[in-house]
Amino acid sequence: MSGGAPRIFAEPKELATHAADWIQGLIAAHEGTFRIALSGGSTPRLLFSELAHRSIDWSKVVFYWIDERFVPPDHPDSNLRMARETLLSRIDVPPDHIHPMPTDGDPDDAARRYEAQLKADYGADTFDSARPLFDFVLLGLGGDGHICSLFPGSPVLDERERWVAPVPTGRPEVRLTLTYPCVESSRVTAFLVAGPDKAEAVAKIRAGDTSLPGGRLKPQGELVWLLDREAARLL
Ligand code: 6PG
Repeated sequence: MSGGAPRIFAEPKELATHAADWIQGLIAAHEGTFRIALSGGSTPRLLFSELAHRSIDWSKVVFYWIDERFVPPDHPDSNLRMARETLLSRIDVPPDHIHPMPTDGDPDDAARRYEAQLKADYGADTFDSARPLFDFVLLGLGGDGHICSLFPGSPVLDERERWVAPVPTGRPEVRLTLTYPCVESSRVTAFLVAGPDKAEAVAKIRAGDTSLPGGRLKPQGELVWLLDREAARLL
């Protein structure tokens, strides 16, 4: 999995502006509901802030997450909180179009609840490659080559039945993550990567190194790499 030629921008701000232009266009051109799965972490902040002041028909858009830290929604590490602060609180989106990963109760049960939500929205319990679950998946990339909360060496890398799974180890806090079959079920998948600490992982994955979680991704639809100059410096 390497995708087409990467789109490379000098600065993270330019990267975010281009990504926002592109996503705005995809939503405008799309007929019907546009299901987008958001990444967390810090890289998407600039993009989300850009999107917040664009003229977009948010009533078409349904928001999901690719992973979450198992913390309360108002916790500083919450991916939902980051998206709410930078985007969701600043746009006119129907509240029932926002589907955060649950972080209450037991992590395994919360993962099963989210999986049930995804299956209900998809309208089936198994994936049809002709009908991807998501219209757009936004991926970040860890310096260790992880995507979502699919960390190197984690048993969840081999999970092929569940759509959502708990990740009890690998980070200080328990995570929930989409599994490969689920995150791959998308018409368009975009890596949004910035910073020198990601350059080695970017280069390895684009060279076909499947030892990194990001290198094992086999997205069903179009794969696009959006990079800043620093993240692309080893290409
Ligand atoms: C998370 C993300 C994770 C992230 C990478 C990169 O919950 O942290 O979903 O997969 O995309 O860790 O994080 P940064 O953008 O903060 O470098």
